[in-house]
Amino acid sequence: MSDEQESMDLFGDMHPYNKLFMKCDSLPEKGRDEAEILKEITFMSEEENKKWQTGQCSGTMYHGGMEHYAFLNKVFSMYSSINLLQRDLCPSGTKFEAEVLAMVAKMLHAEEVSKINPSDYVAGAITSGGSESIYNAMFVYREWGRDQKGITEPEVIAPTSIHPAHLKAAHYLGMKVIRVPVNADFEADVEAMRAQITPNTVALAATAGTYPNGVVDPISKLSALALEHKIGLHVDGCLGGFILPWIEKLGYEVPVFDFRLPGVTSISCDTHKYGYSLKGTSTVNFRNKDLRRYMYFAQEDWSGGIYASPTIQGSRSAGLSAAMWAAMVSMGEDGYLTAAKAIMDTADKIREGIAKIPELRIMGKTTFLISMTSDVVDPYFINDYLDKKGWRMNGCQNPPGFHFCITLPQTQPGIAERFVKDLADGVNFAKDPPYEVPRSGFLYGMGATADGREILRQGMKGWIDASYEFE
Ligand SMILES: Cc1ncc(COP(=O)(O)O)c(C=O)c1O
Repeated sequence: MSDEQESMDLFGDMHPYNKLFMKCDSLPEKGRDEAEILKEITFMSEEENKKWQTGQCSGTMYHGGMEHYAFLNKVFSMYSSINLLQRDLCPSGTKFEAEVLAMVAKMLHAEEVSKINPSDYVAGAITSGGSESIYNAMFVYREWGRDQKGITEPEVIAPTSIHPAHLKAAHYLGMKVIRVPVNADFEADVEAMRAQITPNTVALAATAGTYPNGVVDPISKLSALALEHKIGLHVDGCLGGFILPWIEKLGYEVPVFDFRLPGVTSISCDTHKYGYSLKGTSTVNFRNKDLRRYMYFAQEDWSGGIYASPTIQGSRSAGLSAAMWAAMVSMGEDGYLTAAKAIMDTADKIREGIAKIPELRIMGKTTFLISMTSDVVDPYFINDYLDKKGWRMNGCQNPPGFHFCITLPQTQPGIAERFVKDLADGVNFAKDPPYEVPRSGFLYGMGATADGREILRQGMKGWIDASYEFE
């Protein structure tokens, strides 16, 4: 068996359509019939929609309403070919983006910043997603550190729960992320982070709604720490930023994480998650315009003319910005509140169910995302069982477990009850599993060793290679 064949088997069948449809490894000599193309694409998308429309899939599909998507797609189609870099051709794009940024800033209590410092004014940018928002924030701190403090080897201090997008940005930008273990509640350990501050520290980073556990880091304490050391504080609200404000309004206890805190200097917040817009958009907001300026690029002497762009992207579709604006104004405060209530009602039901299963333990103070582990059975066996029953959880590690990120498809009647039942059955399955190594723990047991981690890293890179292969 060739190396390539072995990696294909390891990663499963990545090309289920090869046997069904014609493959194109070069351009068709003659352009294909549009109706035929649409038929194929309709088949594939309908097949794939079935996987999450059951309501059994954690995260990823945040709204799930086909009418909502049809509305956004209609808006998108009117601008899909317009390039937002050519602003003179689309003043509507300027309207959409400025208004989206103003609405997001308001949701994050931007009005508070000028009360604390009259010269501050929240200023943001639209990006292609959470990772780009985080990249831009990291870039700003690198540039700010160099400009204001002469820092040439910039470091950012973050808890181990921080999303890999921060490490990826640091990798691209020649920065270092110092990762500090989280505390027993899976939240940032403020004193341990304090101990890592050096003259090279440009910023702290923490999360409102961590991906592994859904908790909000103690941002108010980190805000004080950032002010004390005159460094930045990025709050990653990519996941939680668009739902926690509404959960707070519903009366749940949500720690303050936004611009009400004087040390918070930037917040990333994804419109393509709980903002319920199309995939491919996010926002990043800074405490003032000076910070935002560090993000811009301008070149005045290019033979193609003067070039300037705000973020890492060059040409980008005005359609996504139009759809993002349409998603927000069509939802309105009442829509976001109603959605948050439905999600929290479902999450509460699931939490109540878990409380009656003594073998399970919820990790941290959760709201819309529930992560669980077990001190009695191997949680990956529970996940194996759930998988067999059609559930798609997100596996976590350190400690082993999995999370269920509740989105609108799960608020359909009966889903929470079915999940709790299958979870209880899954615990029984895990007590006496019919095989030795759980399937949901890839390279199980090796993740804790240096060799195992390198194998995992190389394995994941092999998986990316495989995803670009033709068959
Ligand atoms: C907390 C958090 N930050 C950042 C990201 C990265 O966002 P994206 O996948 O849109 O780049 C995610 C994605 O799930 C996330 O949950």
